[in-house]
Amino acid sequence: MLDEQAKKTILRKIPHGLYICGVRDGEEMNGFTASWVMQASFQPPLVVNCVNTKSGSHQKIKNSGVFSLTFLEAGQKEVAQKFFKPQQRVGNKFADMEFYEGETGCPIISDSLGYVECRVVGSVEHGDHTVFVGEVIAAGLHRDGEPLLLESTGWQYGG
Ligand SMILES: Cc1cc2nc3c(=O)[nH]c(=O)nc-3n(C[C@H](O)[C@H](O)[C@H](O)COP(=O)(O)O)c2cc1C
Repeated sequence: MLDEQAKKTILRKIPHGLYICGVRDGEEMNGFTASWVMQASFQPPLVVNCVNTKSGSHQKIKNSGVFSLTFLEAGQKEVAQKFFKPQQRVGNKFADMEFYEGETGCPIISDSLGYVECRVVGSVEHGDHTVFVGEVIAAGLHRDGEPLLLESTGWQYGG
């Protein structure tokens, strides 16, 4: 039988960064705070991005087959805080945020370390998050710096 408490405690020890996943579907655009992200292949370059099936962004990634990941710098906790609120509730999260559209059309936050843009090449739809496997088709650097880590925020997402 699964020891729920042990599972929760040990899984929360997986280190995570914090990213803003940018999505676009036709004229519609959005972004959300993502932490379940990691590199998954050198060649071709792949990343995995696990997205809550109930989030507004999930359907947009399914429809368009693309997403971006903006890499936040240590100290940018307030940006992550803004983007973990659902668009359905707070409206346009990019309203007072400087951003530009990448070659996928997905939004990229200008004030950040950099970004990758991905085309979805596979997915696992099994649990409450879909595991999207994205091939990195574009990347850019904005500045050098240390990444924002989930651990530094005192927040939990996992377990
Ligand atoms: C610290 C933290 C990490 C998060 N990581 C993820 C994640 O990896 N995947 C995900 O789907 N949601 C994650 N979320 C939740 C989304 O940011 C949240 O559901 C958001 O409201 C979705 O926005 P949307 O409905 O506008 O798409 C995280 C939230 C927090 C606070």
